[in-house]
Amino acid sequence: MKTPNKINLANIPTPFLKTQFNGSKFFIKRDDYTGVELSGNKIRKLEYLLWEAKKQKVDYVFTRGGDQSNHARATCIAASSLGIKSKLFLWGNENQNPDGNLFLDKLTGADIKFLTKKEYHSVDDYMLEEQNILKKKKLKSYIIPSGGSSPLGIWGYINFIKELSQQTDLTKFSGILSATGSGGTAAGMLVGQALLNLNFKLFLVSVIESKEIMREEIIFLAEKCNYEFGLKLKLNYNNLEIFDTFSEEGYKNIAPKKIEVIKNFLLSPVFY
Ligand SMILES: Cc1ncc(COP(=O)(O)O)c(C=O)c1O
Repeated sequence: MKTPNKINLANIPTPFLKTQFNGSKFFIKRDDYTGVELSGNKIRKLEYLLWEAKKQKVDYVFTRGGDQSNHARATCIAASSLGIKSKLFLWGNENQNPDGNLFLDKLTGADIKFLTKKEYHSVDDYMLEEQNILKKKKLKSYIIPSGGSSPLGIWGYINFIKELSQQTDLTKFSGILSATGSGGTAAGMLVGQALLNLNFKLFLVSVIESKEIMREEIIFLAEKCNYEFGLKLKLNYNNLEIFDTFSEEGYKNIAPKKIEVIKNFLLSPVFY
């Protein structure tokens, strides 16, 4: 088994707390505490991806996402702390007064290319074209996929399961509930549970895609990691329970119901 190296950037282990909401008791793993400006799940994947970028001595990292992408923000902040420049390919409009994540992206000096929804379908082509332009100037770049979800990036969530198993007895839990977007968090947890010989459900709320598409993407990523790192694990696909009916108001829109919940826990309105 090959275990990849990582750079330590996140404040981990994150707290694992007992809590309650609407009369129900449950536990919460506060991955929003991974660091103020890096906060969230992305930094766990970036620890591995940026190790690789550093090893390849790149001048730039490229990544992609929506104009308020948590992942894009975490990427350019983490990369700039390592002296690597970022180029972001974002789906959205150039804003005169950028706020939220976009403001932070700009603060790090990231070079941002805005794409329309139609152009974003060809985002890979835009990235390759830009990579070639840089190559001609003898500058190296490393492409980080959407959400940092690659066979290497998902090690962040393989390790998350290891971290959690040191904080609690995971055999006593019926499952972990998480949002799923690019699928890497879920794929990492699927590999992580098999690696530790654990067998609990992964209840995943899809923020954008149908449950069928998400299932395919999660399994593809998890198996690619299983193969590329010679893990030889038997992954239990039956543990994937995906829900795709929770975002009736649409991606990025905030329904009043959501505001009620995030009054209790400060969670990302897109991904809670
Ligand atoms: C706060 C939060 N939770 C969960 C997710 C989903 O993670 P993944 O993209 O690995 O499926 C995201 C993705 O951006 C996120 O920002």
